Amino acid sequence: MYLMSSSCLDTIYSHVSIREYLEEDIPSSDLDKILRASQRAPSGWNLQPYTIIVVKNTEKKKKLADLLGGQNHIANSSVFLVFIVDYAKIVNAVEEHGKSLTPLLSHFAEALIDIGISAGWAALVAESLGYGVTFIAVYEDPCRVAEILETPKYTIPVLGLTIGKPREKPRKRPRQPLDQLTDIDTYSDYRSKAKSVLEVYGDKADRVFNYIFSRNKYYDKAHRNILECLSTTGFRTTY
Ligand SMILES: Cc1cc2nc3c(=O)[nH]c(=O)nc-3n(C[C@H](O)[C@H](O)[C@H](O)COP(=O)(O)O)c2cc1C
Repeated sequence: MYLMSSSCLDTIYSHVSIREYLEEDIPSSDLDKILRASQRAPSGWNLQPYTIIVVKNTEKKKKLADLLGGQNHIANSSVFLVFIVDYAKIVNAVEEHGKSLTPLLSHFAEALIDIGISAGWAALVAESLGYGVTFIAVYEDPCRVAEILETPKYTIPVLGLTIGKPREKPRKRPRQPLDQLTDIDTYSDYRSKAKSVLEVYGDKADRVFNYIFSRNKYYDKAHRNILECLSTTGFRTTY
């Protein structure tokens, strides 16, 4: 069936995001392996303050693709995993225990890190099974994604992962050189690191920086939406 990579390292070193997929369902045995990898990921305090919504429904994938900037690879993927920061279950567990809890920004941050690891492990297992993946930023407008997924108070969708059999073979995208990405014992020189940041983008730097960092564009909107969503879903963002 699918080609298994010969080793974990091969899988990791040949990673490339895939944005075009064959129209194929993912066998439930493979999906199960991928989700079990997420489940096995470490978690701060072992709290596991997240839920993974496995979006299989075509209409729902299309709705999410449209909402997240017309990203067709969400609609065309075999399955779209959405990782939700989930303090609804934690608040409920604490209340069942006779206490109360208002989740804080710091709880949200912890969940983000857990989700990053959990989603990363899912991606690696998917790739080792011969699937292609792409992470999807869901944090741009999390509460509208929450509406589609009908998530309750104290939950915020933050990260997506498209999975499917690749219909393209992109070239590997560059990374900052290892000697710039890593330092031994103390931080070295941000100016030479900055050079390698620019080298990765080459002549696309202007377009990318303009898109990401201009006022009122992507990150301004995301900043506002995340803060709003945190407070409307019940997180405490002030000290
Ligand atoms: C947190 C995160 C969010 C991302 N969001 C998106 C996204 O919304 N859409 C997309 O097409 N790719 C997204 N990507 C994929 C990156 O664009 C991709 O990893 C990067 O350009 C490097 O390419 P490569 O993965 O092929 O090496 C995201 C990756 C990460 C880690």
